[in-house]
Amino acid sequence: MENRWLSEAFKGEVPDGFHGKVGWASPSNIALVKYWGKKGKQIPQNPSISFTLSECLSETFIGFEKAETFGFKFFFDGKENPAFGAKIERFLLDYQAFFPFINQLSLTVESHNTFPHSSGIASSASSMSAFVICLMEIESLLVGPSTGSGTLTKASYFSRLASGSASRSVFPKMALWGATPCFEGSSDEYAVSLENDIHSVFKTYRDAILIVSGETKSVSSRAGHALMEGNPYAPARYAKANENIKNLLAALKAGDLDTFINITESEALQLHALMMCSNPSFILMKPNTLHLINEIRAFREETKTPLCFTLDAGPNVHLLYPDSEAEKVEGFIKNELVKYCVDNRWIADHVGDGPKKLL
Ligand code: PMV
Repeated sequence: MENRWLSEAFKGEVPDGFHGKVGWASPSNIALVKYWGKKGKQIPQNPSISFTLSECLSETFIGFEKAETFGFKFFFDGKENPAFGAKIERFLLDYQAFFPFINQLSLTVESHNTFPHSSGIASSASSMSAFVICLMEIESLLVGPSTGSGTLTKASYFSRLASGSASRSVFPKMALWGATPCFEGSSDEYAVSLENDIHSVFKTYRDAILIVSGETKSVSSRAGHALMEGNPYAPARYAKANENIKNLLAALKAGDLDTFINITESEALQLHALMMCSNPSFILMKPNTLHLINEIRAFREETKTPLCFTLDAGPNVHLLYPDSEAEKVEGFIKNELVKYCVDNRWIADHVGDGPKKLL
């Protein structure tokens, strides 16, 4: 696999005494057109589009020092976490040809999420992208800083290898991951920014995450993707996703909220329908997920407020709405929706600007 990042990788000797600490915060993202089903090495079966979030972040620090052999420790919320550490170590060892200098370093990773552990929000997109960006910064201390848009593309490429949806977290506002003839420069190997291709209404969009359950999901997304291989509806799904990409890109550009709402809700329900018709089948929605969906649709019908829902691979409901509707929608959440949330919990998030340097 010869590619530009492989040939550019720093393959020299790490100088004696090389040590320090880097830190980055990277956000989670919420997909509108969903990635569900993959092939080869983290190649999506269809393109996906997401909003980059702002408040749901992973904050990651890597302490590094020159060592005789590769050393690795991972701490989550201040405690050593060998299970999560093993996942990151596996990624590093699988792709060490891109980061050969790690074999001369001892790394201590400390990570923390700004959203509660018990919120059922998947953290792989934020944590893997934060980790990759920290690693790239260590590399830049060895080779000199890389600049320009290529840096984000490279961060997206490596984040994708660690966790598919993480490829989209590195870009501000919105990102598209997966090759499509509808968007020049799009790729299966990394995401691209949609920041300059969307109407201003989407640049300040809000996402209220309604916490229906804080439990860890019963089926991992890795297992869910794999089940798409035997799913009889897979070919129809991939064709529909491509059509939705085309129509959503046009709606995002035009600020067409009706089409946006229609595609976003349909995508969320298709994702869960695919889970229900895989073999073995599984259901990640809870009764309160459906109550919330019904309430949201009824409120939209009655008040003509352009709000809509989407779902990730779990029971929580993401309520999406324009910033200009915030007061009205937040009143609705407090009066009608929090009763369906565990301990009345919800997280007020909004479209954000991507990763931020912490150190
Ligand atoms: O990145 P993964 O492998 O955890 O898969 C994410 C899949 C969904 O979150 C359900 C959809 C998406 O596009 O983010």
